[in-house]
Amino acid sequence: MTELDDQAFDFYAHHWDPRAPGEADLRAAAIEELPVRCPVTKSDAYGGFWMVSSYDAVLGIFRDWQSFSNNPVRAFFGRPAERPPMPPIDLDRPVQREYRQLLDPMFTPKRLAPFEPGIRALVTELIDEFIEDGRCDFAGQFALQFPGRMLYKFLFGIDDSDVMRVKRWTELSLDDPHGPIGQDAQVKWNDWLYQLIESRRAAPRRDDIIDRLLCGQIEGRPLTDREIVGCLQVLILGGLGTTADVLLNTIIRLCAGRELQEYLRAHPERIEIDEFVRMDTPVGVATRLCTRQAVIEGQTVEPGDRVLVFSAAAHRDPKEFSDPNTLKLGRSPNRHLGFGAGPHRCLGSNVARLNFRIAMEEILSRMTDLRITPGDAPRREEPQALTFSIKYLPLSFTPGPRRGASG
Ligand code: HEM
Repeated sequence: MTELDDQAFDFYAHHWDPRAPGEADLRAAAIEELPVRCPVTKSDAYGGFWMVSSYDAVLGIFRDWQSFSNNPVRAFFGRPAERPPMPPIDLDRPVQREYRQLLDPMFTPKRLAPFEPGIRALVTELIDEFIEDGRCDFAGQFALQFPGRMLYKFLFGIDDSDVMRVKRWTELSLDDPHGPIGQDAQVKWNDWLYQLIESRRAAPRRDDIIDRLLCGQIEGRPLTDREIVGCLQVLILGGLGTTADVLLNTIIRLCAGRELQEYLRAHPERIEIDEFVRMDTPVGVATRLCTRQAVIEGQTVEPGDRVLVFSAAAHRDPKEFSDPNTLKLGRSPNRHLGFGAGPHRCLGSNVARLNFRIAMEEILSRMTDLRITPGDAPRREEPQALTFSIKYLPLSFTPGPRRGASG
């Protein structure tokens, strides 16, 4: 592993701009060293913010919503996006709790279980597209498609044909939130969502997420269309890139560790998302605004201070995880913070868990001898603390037969 010299460590501890591109190896080393050498520190980037990386402190901040607010942290790094707050992520309790009470029942394992055959059929269809070739771009042909198609098709009940169009608008509005292309995509995406809720209002009830938002109450009144659109956007933004990242990073680990690949192929019941989320945390950081004086690891944080909660680094804290830099399947206990903690703990973690299990079961059973295509290499986004996504993953494997309805 790369080790940081004092100068490099000082940079990460005191001057790091987590949105600036950086070297992947150095970033990985910083994640491993920060919780041990400097669990609470202040970066002077963006006018100054606290960076917290010890496990106990990160967990404490996630839980202490009265001292560490989610609203309005959208302005954390520079100019905020010009949009109203998106519920529930941009709101604090007690109103945030009302949204969770409305939505949580739609995301229980029991509620999701009936979708399993349909999700498996979707995975089968995606794998069928490349299984005979013995090679694919696993990012473009699987991981970046599957979570969105699953969400639209099963949780929103939307026609498949719209899925890729909406996905494109989402990407464009995230890539360039203040530029003309991004703003145009944002308008199209918003219009499409407003039309969707309008058409659902006129349609017979299905008792799904959209109906729940249409018929529910917050603070004793029905939700406005803007609030419903905001909720749907958070579900879309929260569930797509995150699930894609954990699938992609896991496949890379399985290609590097052939024993692990063979072990999971022989023991599919041992497939679990948790240790992979701990090691390659898709949401590596969260942001909070201090609203009342608090002490973190002996440092006094004042109202108005901004706090970067560095979960990816907390996952390497040896006080919580033994041998933290090693992947240990079935690690127990594994109280990772990859889905957050406290009031904002991920609403969709059961969806992620189900999708990951079904996808990995099908991939491992159908795509044998998985490896990165020789002479080619995965391409990642520029490494930042905020995103570290893989955009291209060339895979080779033993070709097999198609299995779906058209196979
Ligand atoms: C591996 C996949 C996923 C990971 C790693 C992940 C991670 C997270 C994390 C860390 C948070 C807390 C953020 C904070 O406290 O600031 C969060 C919140 C959230 N996630 Fe996920 N997520 C995943 C999948 C999903 C999926 C599939 C959905 C929806 C279908 C979803 C919807 C949400 C929502 C709505 C919130 C906000 C909850 C609230 O504010 O009360 N996530 N997620």
